[in-house]
Amino acid sequence: MSVRFAVLVSGSGTNLQALLDAAGQAPFEISLVVSNREDAYGLERARRAGIRAVHIPHKCKSRGAFDAELVEVLKSHGVDWVLLAGFMRILTPVFLDAFPNRVVNIHPSLLPSFPGINAQKQAFDAGVRVAGATVHFVDAGMDTGPIIAQGAVAVHDSDDEESLRTRILSVEHRVFPMVMKWIAEGRV
Ligand code: GRF
Repeated sequence: MSVRFAVLVSGSGTNLQALLDAAGQAPFEISLVVSNREDAYGLERARRAGIRAVHIPHKCKSRGAFDAELVEVLKSHGVDWVLLAGFMRILTPVFLDAFPNRVVNIHPSLLPSFPGINAQKQAFDAGVRVAGATVHFVDAGMDTGPIIAQGAVAVHDSDDEESLRTRILSVEHRVFPMVMKWIAEGRV
């Protein structure tokens, strides 16, 4: 039986696009894209790919109430695995317990270095010579779950924060679809 993925986004969704492009040629399905932000361009990318795009607002709701709504929508679509692709909300146990060991995030640093926001700036400011991205299981902590895969990039002398961000993003676009395929093949 093919694995059914949901992708959660809050923004532009370039990682979502890489996942959609990879799913086009594969025996698995991105069933649903959900965003907490109505204006997330990721929702438009989903619609263009013919995939159901759902906006679930988070404002004026407790984290638990928002997560319960999210779980209901995902379960009603028979979702097996959840991929966080720039989803800017912290998920509570209400959500994580509904998809145990089935929620995966991409983070733009070589974890455990530089968790949290502005990871690329943190790496740039620290002067590291190697940066990258991490795909990991989501647990109750901030970017702390078990690591599945990482992609590394060099930091050049000529880099500024923006060029480093762009180079890290290009490795994100390779690593995340790779992990999605591994999941679909039962290898994760
Ligand atoms: C990426 O850098 C991802 O690692 C982080 O949020 C960003 C989302 O970018 N979690 P995009 O919306 O996929 O372009």
